[in-house]
Amino acid sequence: LKIAPLAASTRVSSKAERITYSDIRKIVEKAETMKDVLRLEQGEPDFATPSHVIEAAKAALASGRTKYPPSAGLIELREAIAGKLAIENGIDVRPQSEVAVTTGASEGVCSTFQALLNEGDEVLIPDPAYVSYHRWAILAGATPVSFPLRRDFHIDPDELEKRISPRSRIIVVNSPHNPTGTVLDRGELDALVQIALKHDLQIVSDEVYEKITYDNNLHVSVGSLPGAEEITVTVNSFSKTYAMTGWRVGYVAAHGRLAEAIKKIHAYTVLGVNTEAQFAALAALNGPQDCVKEMVREYRKRRDIVVKALSGIPRLKCASPQGTFYAFPDTSATGMSSEELSSFLLEKGKVAVVQGKAFGDCGEDHLRISFSSSIENIKEGMARIRNAICQLT
Ligand SMILES: Cc1ncc(COP(=O)(O)O)c(C=O)c1O
Repeated sequence: LKIAPLAASTRVSSKAERITYSDIRKIVEKAETMKDVLRLEQGEPDFATPSHVIEAAKAALASGRTKYPPSAGLIELREAIAGKLAIENGIDVRPQSEVAVTTGASEGVCSTFQALLNEGDEVLIPDPAYVSYHRWAILAGATPVSFPLRRDFHIDPDELEKRISPRSRIIVVNSPHNPTGTVLDRGELDALVQIALKHDLQIVSDEVYEKITYDNNLHVSVGSLPGAEEITVTVNSFSKTYAMTGWRVGYVAAHGRLAEAIKKIHAYTVLGVNTEAQFAALAALNGPQDCVKEMVREYRKRRDIVVKALSGIPRLKCASPQGTFYAFPDTSATGMSSEELSSFLLEKGKVAVVQGKAFGDCGEDHLRISFSSSIENIKEGMARIRNAICQLT
C-alpha cells in the first residue's frame, strides 16, 4: 500500500513527530478492549476526592465564581501555597510574584522547561523516570539526556556527573519517585545540589508524591537545602495528595526572574486554571488533613500486602517501596523482557501492569504494579500474577 505524502496543511511539526505516546497507553488501550481484567497499571489514586473539597467547588460555582481567574492563580490560593511551602517544606517564596497555580504538575514542569531552555540545551533525567519529562524537554526544543540510577534506584552522583556537558541546563529530581517508589534522603539531595552548583545547573523538583511515604522515609524538599534556594524550581500538585487528578490543579514555586518567566509562559499557554477547581484546591490546603493521613495509611496496608505477595512468587523479587503507590519488582529471573511479561500477564493472567522499560532502559527487567486499588482487587491481582508466572516453564 502506497502512502500518499501529507498535504502541506496536514504536515505536523518535527516536535510533534518526536513526542511519541508512552507505552503505558498501549497497555491501557489493550486492557480496555478486554473483559475481566484487573487494572493495576493506573497512576492515580482510587479514592474519591474528599467531600469538603467537592463542596467548596460547588459553593464557588453557586456563588458565581465562574469568571477568568488571575492567570497566576487566586491570590488566596497562592498565599495558602506559600504558607504551606514555608511551614512544611522550608521553602520561602513570595505568593504575589513567585508562585503560579498551574494545570497540574504537568503544566508546571512543562512551563518551567519552556521558561528555562533554549534550543539544543540538555535536560538530565533519571532513568527510569516518569514518562513525560522527555517529552516536555523535546517540546521546549531541548534534548533529554538520561542518567542511570543505581540498581537500588538511588542517584549515583558519578553517573550523573559523567553526562553533564556544556549544554546541560536542568537536573530533574522526582522524590518520591515514579515508578520505583524511592525516596531520596537529605544527604543524597545535598550531593545533588553540590553538583548543580558546580556546573551552574537548575534543579526542577517534582514533588507530587511528597505525602505518600512510609516507615521513616520522610520527604525532603531539595529547594530547602543550603545553596539550593535560588537554583530550584519546586513543582507540586493536588492530584495525588488529595485524590484530585481530574481537577487539574498544581503549582510551581520559583525565584525572581525565573518565576516571572514561568508565569508569562503559563499565562499564554492556559491563561489560568479553572476558577472553581482553585477554590477546591484552597479547601484541600486549608481544610482538615486527616483524609490525607487516612489514604496514606491505607496505601501502606496495601503496600505490605503487595510486597509480601510478590516476594512469595517464584522468579520475582520485590523491594519495599519507600513512597508512592507503586511496587517495582525485579522480574529478570523470568527470562522475559518486561514488555513480553506485561503482555503475557495481560493476556494469560488478565491483569494489567506496566513494563518497566516504558520508564527507560534501566527500568527493564521490572514491572510497575500500582496498589492504588482495593485490597480485594490487589489480592486477586497478586493471585493472577502468581498463577500466570507459575505457568512459565
Ligand atoms: C512523577 C509525576 N509527576 C507529575 C505527574 C502529573 O501530575 P499532575 O496530575 O499534577 O499533572 C505524575 C502523574 O502520574 C507523576 O507521576
